[in-house]
Amino acid sequence: MVSPVPCSAPPYMTSDPDSFAYTSARSRWPVILTGIVDDLSRSTIESDGEKAEEGKVLIEKIGALKYDVEHDRTLPPLEDDGLFDVALYNSELERQGPMTWGNAPWLYSECYLYRKMYGYLQTTIHWKDYDFFARQKLDAFKSSEVAVAELAIRYKTLSGQLHGSVNKEQLNLLFREFIDISLWGNATDLSLLTNLSLDQLQSLQGEKARKESEKNILVNDVDLAWQAISSVDGGRVDLILDNAGFEFYTDLIFALFLLDSGLADTIVLHPKAMPWFVSDVLPVDLPVLINALGSVSVFNMAREEINFLREQLVKYNDDGKIIVRSFGFWTTSLAFWEIRENGLGGGHEVWQDLKESKLAILKGDLNYRKLTYDAAWPRITPFSTAIGPLATNHVKLISLRTCKADVAVGLKDGQEEELEKSWVDITTAKSKPETGKAWAWSGKWAVMPFSSGEK
Ligand code: F6P
Ligand code: MG
Repeated sequence: MVSPVPCSAPPYMTSDPDSFAYTSARSRWPVILTGIVDDLSRSTIESDGEKAEEGKVLIEKIGALKYDVEHDRTLPPLEDDGLFDVALYNSELERQGPMTWGNAPWLYSECYLYRKMYGYLQTTIHWKDYDFFARQKLDAFKSSEVAVAELAIRYKTLSGQLHGSVNKEQLNLLFREFIDISLWGNATDLSLLTNLSLDQLQSLQGEKARKESEKNILVNDVDLAWQAISSVDGGRVDLILDNAGFEFYTDLIFALFLLDSGLADTIVLHPKAMPWFVSDVLPVDLPVLINALGSVSVFNMAREEINFLREQLVKYNDDGKIIVRSFGFWTTSLAFWEIRENGLGGGHEVWQDLKESKLAILKGDLNYRKLTYDAAWPRITPFSTAIGPLATNHVKLISLRTCKADVAVGLKDGQEEELEKSWVDITTAKSKPETGKAWAWSGKWAVMPFSSGEK
């Protein structure tokens, strides 16, 4: 089989004790697998007959997988479940391997983990489309009721103002506001969401608040994204989604703003095709979210504003202005360097699609890891180097990422040292000192790098 474009920087490995990859493989994965067993047990109890029998087998398989992860067993080739990507996963395993769970490239092994579990579902009759994480995703969304209400109020106020006479400068401010909301929707710390009216945004107070959250954005190319978006009216914007629930809600609010303002006339949403990294959006999560917003028992604050937002969403969806397109490429283990002519694993189709877009907005941490090959680049490596062929293949993109993993590029000289020191200071002040390196996965900082896709 043909190999992907090679990367000169080494991958982050689950064997490196200084990395978050190491902790992920040893602490986070077993917890996630236990959560899946619990979820399957609940669903199995609620089932009967053949479905219940299949549920028990799934529980056994996930239990055995957890055992293998915890005992650092070898990753075997994936069993053929009839889907297009099995051969690709297996050829990558051969090319990058042999691997054990505790000594593997982090990106490959983590994708393999989710893909393997999806394979288990494909061997059943009744569980093929089951999402182990659906319950958890909905519960988390419900628990963000206050923020959901706040943003609905905010959206209604600002969209009212949009129908008045808004000049380019005001539109630019709103764009920054909504892109920030979508960015910090990916954070573990949502406290950076600002809450200002259009008037306040333009006041000193607004600027001050913005500067406060801006100082945590280490690379901020929002001006370049604005140029790409505002150079032509209408057109298509793509959102390569990350997490369901609150983050997805902030992304949809951003999408509504782009449509309401005429900055875009079509939004293409790209969810995953299988349960992925716990909380990622699946196609079904759009109707799930719309239903949840419609339920008074789930969200009983700001009903008028939530209804308004929901109606807008339904209208744009019905009119074909919000489109959902799900490519199998997003759940391969491949870096986004394969989004190119002749790209592997469906990278070619994604490339053909995204180069028609005015701007591709890639949400979240995993998308950033895939953009940068999840490689241990020196931190001052330019983003254009770290994204390989994507830098020059005519796809305009911006990544909205709160930093939750090892990889980070595009920093200035000396900035890494400052960040390490500041993380040691912060955690020591809380009497929970951590290694300075953990700044990179703390979720406190963010990056928004842009690429024009041209040389
Ligand atoms: O940081 C832990 C982790 O599971 C990473 O493996 C992954 O990159 C990230 O979280 C997922 O975060 P996000 O949902 O922002 O992509
Ligand atoms: Mg995610």
